[in-house]
Amino acid sequence: MNELHGESRVVALVPAAGQGVRLGESKPKAFVPVGGSPMLALAVDGLIASGSVDEVVVMVPADLIDETRALLPESAIPVHVVPGGAERTDSVRAGLDAAPDATFVLVHDAARALTPPSLISRVVAELRAGAPAVVPALPVTDTIKSVDAAGAVTGTPDRSGLRAIQTPQGFDARLLRAAYATDTQATDDAGLVELLGTTVLTVLGDPLAFKITTPLDLVLANTLVAQRNTPIAAREAVTTP
Ligand code: C5P
Repeated sequence: MNELHGESRVVALVPAAGQGVRLGESKPKAFVPVGGSPMLALAVDGLIASGSVDEVVVMVPADLIDETRALLPESAIPVHVVPGGAERTDSVRAGLDAAPDATFVLVHDAARALTPPSLISRVVAELRAGAPAVVPALPVTDTIKSVDAAGAVTGTPDRSGLRAIQTPQGFDARLLRAAYATDTQATDDAGLVELLGTTVLTVLGDPLAFKITTPLDLVLANTLVAQRNTPIAAREAVTTP
């Protein structure tokens, strides 16, 4: 039981068990440092700083469990580290198994390391207000086209009806468990819930919740953290002619 929120309990799951090294670094993406701290630690920091999360479960490769425990921040809320699985869905399932008391579950990419705590709170507020599934969304600025295997354009969907989806994605815990009990596939957790016929609500996302995927993203993230860590007076001294 949580004193702040009555009986309900918000558990954030952070899948970080991929071995992916697309950023060009030698370690799995979640362990790549941004501004000197591993992305995973920054992402967990943000969840804790939101004040909206009661517990965090991080899923990592089995051989990195001890290392992960050592790098995570000291925290007033429980932060568990458990082994993930072969696929991302297996890792989320492992997280759900480690969170039997959850009322609401957030699933949050470690790669969205700079997600503002206010966005996390926005998602939780909608869950508490009764939405069964909530995702942060931003309007798309590029025109999006579908193409066939040969690269020929097959369609141009109306951009005004499209959104780019971020994390944390929030769910009523029973709903997400039901979605994961099915044998279906989707590219995100909300996609599984949509297949059950449940309406997924969007809240306004935040550009700072971008997914650090490419070397260019890493440059941007490092620059943003350096700016965040520079006192305003020193920044003005640099930018004032
Ligand atoms: O590879 P991809 O970018 O789709 O991975 C998305 C997230 O899922 C990453 O944070 C990755 O660490 C995590 N993941 C996982 N378990 C796997 C594969 C990916 O937790 N088996």
